[in-house]
Amino acid sequence: MVPPDTTVSSLPHARWWRAGVVQAVSPPGVIDLGPGYLEPSLLAVDEVLPLYAEALTEFGPAALSYGHNAGAEPLRALLAARHGCTAEEIMVTAGTSQALTLLCTALGRPGRTAVVEHTCYDLARSIMTDHGLRLREVDADSEGVRPQALDRALSHGDDVAFVYLTPTFHNPTGTVAGVSRRRELLAVAARHGVPIVEDDAYAELSLGRTAPPPSLAALAGRRGVIRLGSFAKTLGPGLRLGWLEAEPGLIDTLTNRGQLVSGGALNHLTSLAVAMLIGDGRYDRRLAWLREQLRLRCETLVAALRAGLGESVVIDRPAGGYFVWLTFDPWRSEESLLAAAERAGVVVAPGSRFGSADGTHLRLAYSLNSPDRLAEAAARLAAAWRNEETLR
Ligand SMILES: Cc1ncc(COP(=O)(O)O)c(C=O)c1O
Repeated sequence: MVPPDTTVSSLPHARWWRAGVVQAVSPPGVIDLGPGYLEPSLLAVDEVLPLYAEALTEFGPAALSYGHNAGAEPLRALLAARHGCTAEEIMVTAGTSQALTLLCTALGRPGRTAVVEHTCYDLARSIMTDHGLRLREVDADSEGVRPQALDRALSHGDDVAFVYLTPTFHNPTGTVAGVSRRRELLAVAARHGVPIVEDDAYAELSLGRTAPPPSLAALAGRRGVIRLGSFAKTLGPGLRLGWLEAEPGLIDTLTNRGQLVSGGALNHLTSLAVAMLIGDGRYDRRLAWLREQLRLRCETLVAALRAGLGESVVIDRPAGGYFVWLTFDPWRSEESLLAAAERAGVVVAPGSRFGSADGTHLRLAYSLNSPDRLAEAAARLAAAWRNEETLR
């Protein structure tokens, strides 16, 4: 018996949760562990509701003008204080995807190379290849990219635009690089004179009490590192708001491009609204609550999978982010695991989508369902995959 999907229908603002308004709606009756979305009841509707009125009251017509090209100073100053840098090292963006697009236009030229992890966020790959960049993959281990592999990838003597890394709560594997691994990666990239683009979309979503290691950008004092942050995963992707940390010279280059000179700050009013939320501590209270919600969901999913699947699958319990990464015996085929999941009414993401060619992997998001539904999904998957094993 499937627990009723109360996540959307019971919400007062839910009548517009449908295709044509939102990017994707899960099929009825199916438990969707596919995309890296927040469950509707976890999106920050109540927190965001008063913010636009507050911002318009505080900033008046300045909130509706073209904003300063690098983003309005109030948000940049707050972000600088949170991330231990100066406001000149912060640029407001319309989220990580937009920031990566901007970097590809500014640093990339068709035919140049971007170095990426062998397994990484599939849509970042799309953004890079949309700009004509060629991708070169490097091997990773349980701490992400291996420094020797990065060194080899940067030793081809060709034109590398940047290295794209996600050292914290990696999508899809959940891995975190320790401080010494981070320092080694920084040293390799610096030796080759190639900038690192650090995608830190999940950095604020630690599930434990300990914070993740300092960002690559913080360790390097932002020299040679461009860090991308986002409010998509902590408040809601519909805000289209994020930021970029980089050396002031690069920020000047980025903010003098035609798009910014013509249109001013990206998402100006929303940036002022979110500044209201951060400024008086409401954002930090929201983060603490959200981390707890995600921790509960992660623990529920992992415990139910372990109970149902035993030792037959390696289940990596992440320290943060949205995803659990499963590693199956190499003889298990991805197609048959996906087909069995589909028959059981559960959507999961294939490892191959992220470039993973070494063995059989699946990614399960715990961010998009309630704990009850996650437990139900795990029970269905375990039954389906055990059954499929016996049918072999
Ligand atoms: C690693 C990573 N980077 C970036 C994004 C997209 O971020 P944004 O919504 O800020 O464009 C995602 C969303 O899935 C992600 O997983």
